[in-house]
Amino acid sequence: MMLQISVIGTGYLGATHAAGMAELGFDVLGVDNNPAKAAALAAGRVPFHEPGLPDLLREQVEQGRLRFGTSLIEAARFADIHFLCVGTPEGPTGAADISQLYSAIDGLVPHLTRNCLIVGKSTVPVGTAEALVERINGLAPEGISVDLAWNPEFLREGHAVYDTLHPNRLVFGVTTPDAEWALRQVYSEAITAGSPVVVTNLPTAELVKVSANAFLATKISFINAMAELCEITGADVTLLADALGHDDRIGRKFLGAGLGYGGGCLPKDVRALIARAGELGVAESVSFLDSVDAINRRRRERVVRETLGLLRETGSPGRVAILGAAFKPLSDDVRDSPALEVAVRLHAMGVDVTVFDPEANRSASLIAPDLRYAPTATAAVLGADIVLHLTEWREFRDLDPVLLRSVARGRVFIDARNVLDPEPWLAAGWDFRALGRLV
Ligand code: UGA
Repeated sequence: MMLQISVIGTGYLGATHAAGMAELGFDVLGVDNNPAKAAALAAGRVPFHEPGLPDLLREQVEQGRLRFGTSLIEAARFADIHFLCVGTPEGPTGAADISQLYSAIDGLVPHLTRNCLIVGKSTVPVGTAEALVERINGLAPEGISVDLAWNPEFLREGHAVYDTLHPNRLVFGVTTPDAEWALRQVYSEAITAGSPVVVTNLPTAELVKVSANAFLATKISFINAMAELCEITGADVTLLADALGHDDRIGRKFLGAGLGYGGGCLPKDVRALIARAGELGVAESVSFLDSVDAINRRRRERVVRETLGLLRETGSPGRVAILGAAFKPLSDDVRDSPALEVAVRLHAMGVDVTVFDPEANRSASLIAPDLRYAPTATAAVLGADIVLHLTEWREFRDLDPVLLRSVARGRVFIDARNVLDPEPWLAAGWDFRALGRLV
């Protein structure tokens, strides 16, 4: 018989996972405690920008394999496997706030009417799963057996659908052979197609996720630290990265120097790992992550400082155009976005800031309503003294430097993502600058 699946928490991860599971042929119920979110998804509307997801979701809803609701009691009766996809946001001390996981368990487990497997996908501090096992055992109805597994998710925003259906690896943290068997059933298509499977215990599975993100963050901060050296020595960080990347033990990916990392995952996971190591009494083991975080914060600081310095130098009244607000291209996510933080900080210093992002104007305006948002890049650049390129959308590579030059007031253009070809910008008369890269 085909397994029935519930997905609890239908944010970024949960909505994509639910649609992906339905696409694989399972009967799926997505549950969210936010009725508006559940209603939007049930109507086939995705409340964030993710290429390919709206079509997939709509198709699965229409075919009747995927529905959404708000009741954990309904989920408890419906599913053989419950995926926990709730958020674990950064708390005030940097430690992850796992209260939504506890609420989900408390709302679900007492209502279970049959044996089931609960699978955690949320990113959590190591040790969380073992604590949840205790909680589940205390809440499970008499005679009902509940197993817990951890199966971290590695999807990238902007590529979420592809990553869900073609996971680059599968990690199963399990305590029983039945749990491994069930997860192998769920992911049989991906396994047949070649996704490698690592079967391990609960703490290893939890740690794989945070350490993967901490490693990626370290790689980015490493190259950004080199960018700082390049800037004072006249070396070129993009060529340095190319040369390093040819060594396949290092690899070129995630050596993009510039404004640094942001988003809902890398910054939070680095800080959560630092906090968790501290709680476990081994803060020193990951003390290098303090530097990773500090280097990353410095990148934003550096762009703010350079912009303010240039405005002072030129005596310009201080109008800055910012291209990009999302934390990366193909997303409208502005959580811990380097671009938006630079915009907000300049605005707070009295600079007149106009932002344009192809997808994130709306999400940015919700959290930074005082900034001005333009409908196009050209409109943002109109009358600007300085232009900052802060999120490397593909369409910014096709901007016309001559046209922009004719509408701008000043001529400084800073490519803080080191991806634009300087040639046409210089030819159009721009004072084109980059971060650690020679132009
Ligand atoms: C990240 C991981 O890449 C996923 O594997 C993981 O599943 C996800 O977090 C998660 O924990 O859910 P994501 O946050 O979507 O995915 O974004 P990334 O593509 O990793 O980019 C993160 C940030 O690093 C962006 O701000 C990007 O601009 C920046 N970045 C990336 C650089 O500054 N330089 C680079 O070379 C690469």
